[in-house]
Amino acid sequence: MWEEIVDALHAVNGGPHPGYRAVHAKGTVCEATFTPTPEAKRLSRAAHLQGDPVEATVRFSNASGHPRTPDADPLAGRGMAVKFHLADGEATDIVSVPLVVFFARNPEDFLEMTHARIPDPETGQPDPEKLGAYFAAHPEAGVALQKGIPKLAPTTSFATSDYRALHAFGLVDADDRTHWGRYTWEPEAGIEYLDEEQQQTADRDYLEAELRERLAGGIARFTLEFTLANEGDTLVDPTVEWEGEHEVVELGELEVIRVIEDAEPAGSPIVFDPMRLTEGIEPSDDEILAARPKAYSVSIERRTA
Ligand code: HEM
Repeated sequence: MWEEIVDALHAVNGGPHPGYRAVHAKGTVCEATFTPTPEAKRLSRAAHLQGDPVEATVRFSNASGHPRTPDADPLAGRGMAVKFHLADGEATDIVSVPLVVFFARNPEDFLEMTHARIPDPETGQPDPEKLGAYFAAHPEAGVALQKGIPKLAPTTSFATSDYRALHAFGLVDADDRTHWGRYTWEPEAGIEYLDEEQQQTADRDYLEAELRERLAGGIARFTLEFTLANEGDTLVDPTVEWEGEHEVVELGELEVIRVIEDAEPAGSPIVFDPMRLTEGIEPSDDEILAARPKAYSVSIERRTA
């Protein structure tokens, strides 16, 4: 199934594009520092949440699987993948996108939806009947799209977008209590979208150019927030938004400092994996979360072949 999923992602994106990720093909890797808040230590005994700053690697991406998709494409979307470097060469990752909820609750649905999105070679567009049938049978996908489309709109910068990890994770404290929640990266510069005219005139790869310019003159900052689950919130279904009031804890601040040139030379891929956790962080029983590393491995094998 994992090969089939990656084949379908290639087909949606006019690929395969050798050497590139199956999705989030175009990206910019940066050096960063993460400083946790005192509240973070209260929730988790994970090494990067104990108080001292840790080094981090961040990859911002255009979410398309085509490496030449314009950044101002209204449906391309973005990604922010963060690797926290721990002692002894260990690491833990958070992989996130601007969506509010995910489109599918299990890998079978994801595959079926991706198949329905493959363009017809005659029209260059997905078959409206197939796509319509999928959305009719999966109302959660329509809801995700409705909530997600405004968030996918092109922002003025990678540093003026928010990003969510969508799945629930459990932070385990020193007394072995687990605090379930969902992560959000909030940009300290605020969220800012391109206006219509800027969308029309933006350069194809403006997001990397803007980030380079921004970092040449300063630092891009994000706050890592953790929205604590209320009684009854689903921990396993990433298509469901947690409604109503929730306690939000600030876990720390990420300072993105500079772009790393030639970050992935041949033979040295950087792999961000949402299941690369560490002592003090637990995964939820979310089928999409469990599936992701299996599909990612296929993409990694292919892009490094
Ligand atoms: C079944 C569901 C999913 C599948 C099959 C899937 C598939 C993939 C694949 C094949 C890659 C390329 C991996 C690589 O070559 O390193 C990737 C990257 C990525 N995915 Fe997913 N994905 C899924 C769900 C998600 C979700 C729920 C999120 C956000 C919470 C997400 C965010 C990302 C991001 C940000 C990247 C780029 C990471 C980087 O910069 O290296 N994906 N995905």
